Amino acid sequence: MTKASDIFTLKNRNNVEVSFIGRGGQIVGIKVPDAKGNLADVVVGYETVDAALAGDTYFGALCGRYANRIVKGKFELEGTSYQLDINNESNHLHGGFDGFNMRVWEVEPYRSRKYVQAYKLSLTSPDGDQNYPGELTVSVIYGLTGDNEFVIEYTAKTTKATIINLTSHAYFNLKGAGTGTIEKHELQLNASKYTPIDGEIGTVTGEIAEVNNTAMDFLDGKPIGEACTSNDAQVKLVDGIDHNFVIGGYDGTLKLAARLLDPESGREMEVYTDQPGIQVYTGSHFDSSETGKLGTPIEKWGGVALETQTFPDSPNKENFPNAVLKPGKTYNHTCVYKFNS
Ligand code: BGC
Repeated sequence: MTKASDIFTLKNRNNVEVSFIGRGGQIVGIKVPDAKGNLADVVVGYETVDAALAGDTYFGALCGRYANRIVKGKFELEGTSYQLDINNESNHLHGGFDGFNMRVWEVEPYRSRKYVQAYKLSLTSPDGDQNYPGELTVSVIYGLTGDNEFVIEYTAKTTKATIINLTSHAYFNLKGAGTGTIEKHELQLNASKYTPIDGEIGTVTGEIAEVNNTAMDFLDGKPIGEACTSNDAQVKLVDGIDHNFVIGGYDGTLKLAARLLDPESGREMEVYTDQPGIQVYTGSHFDSSETGKLGTPIEKWGGVALETQTFPDSPNKENFPNAVLKPGKTYNHTCVYKFNS
């Protein structure tokens, strides 16, 4: 049996190293070299496993059953209404009070020719867990390739029709967590559309809008700080970016969704996914009250989460992708974080 504090590490010959713990499958460190071979830990978090266990449980964690928000925690499926936890103002967030980020996943080594090293994380979520229908059997592969790709492969099956949206919640800072903010990081998104949010609803309105002529236009790449400090009303609502972007050319196969570059260190990360959306969140709620890596405060905009997933509140929005999983079908989701220097 895996314990909450058990720590597992994947490593390749280029000294890329991914570490995670049993609780939440929480990624607690990703070491990546720059062009000169200097290593930095590029995920925001804490210095010790004990601190990670006591700290923000979403850092680097697997989120589910429904990552992101569901308006008022309500949805209807096959004629039945469900009420989920309201754990984020008036909405449901990341699976509720006892989401998958809180669970101890069963971890075992996983062998595949694709990976230099890999682990399989498993979890069974009983029927009715957090009020979601169906027993959900989830497995997640964390694999590291020889080409510096950290791959997350999710699969899940259910015994009753249910809704699902799994993601990974690492906040990246390619200069190194604890060395300042990501304002100078350049972000490029393969997204000409995004889903605007509303302050009162607390999440998406259901509209799918063009990024054209707004702070949300990352098509050509630009410093994240430029967007975060703009006067755009969408930015002001969340003091930065906390938005779902519609990935261009979505067809269920792997597509480049995002490219993040730290011009100073030259470290770059590409994100590929077969999902329709990517939530970009610039860590606007970090307030320096907690001590993170390198013994420095975890400050506002200290990292950016690039969470591949379906859209927020999809179960209540007919024009959004379908997030229903039926018995006999398998939920599949792949996310690749590829590091270049
Ligand atoms: C959401 C943020 C939320 C954060 C919690 C992100 O995925 O987009 O709104 O505050 O998770 O860690």
